[in-house]
Amino acid sequence: MSKQEKRLAREAMEKGKKKMEKVVPSHIGIIMDGNGRWAVRRNLPRIAGHKEGLKAVRRAVKSADRYGIRYLTLYSFSTENWKRPKEEVRFLFSLMEQRLRVEGENLHKNNVRVGFIGKRDVLPASLISTMKDIEKMTGKNTGLTLIFAINYGSRQEITDAVRKIVRSKAAEKDVNEKLIEKNLYTGGVPDPDLIIRTSGEKRLSNFLLWQAAYSELYFTPVLWPDFTEEEFLKAIRYYQKRKRKFGGIHSPSSLLGGEE
Ligand code: IPE
Ligand code: IPE
Ligand code: MG
Repeated sequence: MSKQEKRLAREAMEKGKKKMEKVVPSHIGIIMDGNGRWAVRRNLPRIAGHKEGLKAVRRAVKSADRYGIRYLTLYSFSTENWKRPKEEVRFLFSLMEQRLRVEGENLHKNNVRVGFIGKRDVLPASLISTMKDIEKMTGKNTGLTLIFAINYGSRQEITDAVRKIVRSKAAEKDVNEKLIEKNLYTGGVPDPDLIIRTSGEKRLSNFLLWQAAYSELYFTPVLWPDFTEEEFLKAIRYYQKRKRKFGGIHSPSSLLGGEE
């Protein structure tokens, strides 16, 4: 491709992105479930499913970027996942660390800003420092904001927020939704418009409970390692057909691609 052709292609892509922006969810949260079952069905150890799941993570990040999603939050390890065998937990953390180290530069080059929600202090020290490094490196990027929920649980998050508020000695009259929101791990991030859960389970498993008050929910039987760009698009199309009312009777966003 000549330089001019490349420029034209880039411009066309930017235009395409902009056009989608009006109708795509601004923030998508994904409960990436089904790695274990994917492996068991193939007579493989569960960790093979987690490895394969990482490929789906890369695909999802690429798709989110391509369709102009502003925020993507990936549920990677819940506060309840500590109940799993020690070896699996250890494997998951080392896999995360390794991939973050390898993919960090690449994400940075693609203008992705990486962040984390969840309680860090109990994670392995080397993982914590990898998380810090990547946050620092990508902190000023202006593209997709990619948030990994690691050792995340909504109840813990809300409890922590209450604790912070009590510690700040806020007056009773000043305690309102805004103040609580500000003190959640997600402070400053808009609520998810769409939450996707793979693997057929229809529950939130302690994911973004406060923030999901008005999220559209999309459940698919596809196991996480099998989640392709096409599946991602299916979820977006489902979202585009919803009428969002937020308790009212009409909202302008329902005019965008919604069926009357
Ligand atoms: C999701 O897959 C990944 C994590 C929770 C870390 P699972 O490991 O929960 O897969 P299933 O539900 O056992 O199939
Ligand atoms: C939810 O999946 C947590 C993550 C995807 C990280 P789980 O597999 O832990 O959820 P349950 O136990 O089926 O509710
Ligand atoms: Mg599961």
